[in-house]
Amino acid sequence: MHWIIIKMSLYRHCLIKSMNCMVSRSDFSRLLHRKSALRCRTFSSLVSSRTSFDLGRSPARESQPNKDYYYITTPIFYVNAAPHMGHLYSAVIADCLHRYKQMRGFTSKFSTGTDEHGLKIQQAADAAGKYPLNFCTEVSEKFKSLFQSSQISYTDYIRTTGEQHRRAVEHFWTVLYDKDFIYKGEYEGWYSTPDESFLTESQVADSKDKNGKHIKVSLESGHQVEWMKEENYMFRLSEFRPALLQWLRENPRAVRPTKFYNIALQWLQEDLPDLSVSRQRDRLKWGIPVPGDPGQTIYVWLDALVNYLTVAGYPDGHCQWWPAARHVVGKDILKFHAIYWPAFLMAAGVPLPQAIYVHSHWTVSGQKMSKSLGNVVDPLERSQQYTVDGLRYFLLRQGVLDTDCDYYDDKVIKLLNSELADSLGGLLNRCTAPSINHEQVYPSFCGLCFPKENVRGSPEGRAAPEDYRLVESVSRLSAEFERHFENLQIYKALETVSHCVRQTNGFFQRHAPWKLDRNNPQERRWLDTILHVAMECLRVYGTLLQPVVPMTADVLLSRLSVEPSRRGWEDLNFLNRYQGENCPFEGRTLGSDTGILFSRLDRTEKAECKPKKSKKVK
Ligand code: MSP
Repeated sequence: MHWIIIKMSLYRHCLIKSMNCMVSRSDFSRLLHRKSALRCRTFSSLVSSRTSFDLGRSPARESQPNKDYYYITTPIFYVNAAPHMGHLYSAVIADCLHRYKQMRGFTSKFSTGTDEHGLKIQQAADAAGKYPLNFCTEVSEKFKSLFQSSQISYTDYIRTTGEQHRRAVEHFWTVLYDKDFIYKGEYEGWYSTPDESFLTESQVADSKDKNGKHIKVSLESGHQVEWMKEENYMFRLSEFRPALLQWLRENPRAVRPTKFYNIALQWLQEDLPDLSVSRQRDRLKWGIPVPGDPGQTIYVWLDALVNYLTVAGYPDGHCQWWPAARHVVGKDILKFHAIYWPAFLMAAGVPLPQAIYVHSHWTVSGQKMSKSLGNVVDPLERSQQYTVDGLRYFLLRQGVLDTDCDYYDDKVIKLLNSELADSLGGLLNRCTAPSINHEQVYPSFCGLCFPKENVRGSPEGRAAPEDYRLVESVSRLSAEFERHFENLQIYKALETVSHCVRQTNGFFQRHAPWKLDRNNPQERRWLDTILHVAMECLRVYGTLLQPVVPMTADVLLSRLSVEPSRRGWEDLNFLNRYQGENCPFEGRTLGSDTGILFSRLDRTEKAECKPKKSKKVK
């Protein structure tokens, strides 16, 4: 025991001292051979003894005690330039998951905002001739207004220049410093300002700028890097490699989709150098000063990542929301979220987020859409052209998390015309057109016309075998939709809905209700039944589509006279009457006609020329 206590005194911070009474001798000597694991394990056990979190053992499992809470975040956006379609994409994914979870009965918090410190912003403000904070406010407002107009229903909008955030960052830094995970050292190496990222020799390559001058660029982003040498603070990232590996191995769903999980795992096979976490104040003024050392500014990524905690209420009140945290991020910032952030959190004794959801990029002619390449697509302009819901639908229907997707206008127009205007809008129009639905009601279902499949020989039975397949598909739809959502395959969920919409149109077409004689009681019953079935289908589609196209879904459901309190997941029961139960909508007067659900879009000249795919540039 004496020996153990002497060894332990090597570890200066006070929390580790208290391990005396917490770790068995055999455990401890094993840990001593893995010094780097020691700190993390130690923090895990110590923190879990002080709070209700089970930190080290199961930091990122997807179903946790606080199962009614859901906390989803977008990355916070750099304010060096106006938002583009790629930014909106991150926000639309998070918004859709937030709305979906709310629909599933979760209390959901959804945070977004802007990343306002760092060299890149300082330089952009200088170039614009503006005082940095004014510059940040202007651009931050642009993001806010884009999000508001795009129905991004955030509950929190954070700016890293805010007071509460500064306090959270200072606290976080102080915890890391006091625990000896930050030390003063000298950093010498490459730095990419556009990525605000430090790079090793193996992460850069030779290149030429546009004047033919020899330069070095980041292999990952292609951005030019510069050599820097300065005294600053270093974070002991190298010590966290074993703990990070353990975390990922024990939590295969911590980073999703799997493709990105494997990439993160792969990074951890290589050495993980300590990370510079400050810059000299004379080089970088625009940032939070290091507590106790005003000559240094905190590294912008450390500052930015803490935003997720700030919104959760860190340092004092984050226990309710933090355990439910999920981060939506683009693949370009995976390393910051899957390596640096968990290491910072482990060091600070804060549990890790539940999951990191990674998406790929929108490209234009095969090249990443980005301001530096000058090929950005303006989301405001496009949402005016295609409507907000049109754009949301396109991004979520076409965007596949694990592959890049090329953007071009013709693709948007074709998709929206076919799926929202013709198929979904057409179906609503058919069911509610006064020429077919004279009384403007949600008509009655007749069990004799559409008997249960196994009931044979009903003389009035009119349903065809394909109609039973439709009933089956729509009855299964919410379960399939759920499965795809939980797998983060929103595009597949939408594909399934779209398939059902097509089936329903087929049903309508097959029975041509406009040919039925409404004065003949038998035909009238069948006419009403066709409309009832089609409207029930539409009600299910409208309910499921709410997280994706909230305004269109609202118009659709209102027209069907489905009140807001009956638009929840529990209201998805399809075709109750076929099951012999009551249908609360039967016989209701329809809501007022507010016009076409989704107007067909014209192909503009710009849209008609589909760009040729050029060679993909990383
Ligand atoms: N400020 C950092 C994030 C800090 S989070 C603690 C940052 N900002 S960013 O403005 O450059 O990017 C924000 C998000 O937009 C990222 O998820 C990024 O992947 C996403 N996109 C930027 N360009 C994109 C595309 N072309 N396509 C899809 N998303 C892309 O990184």
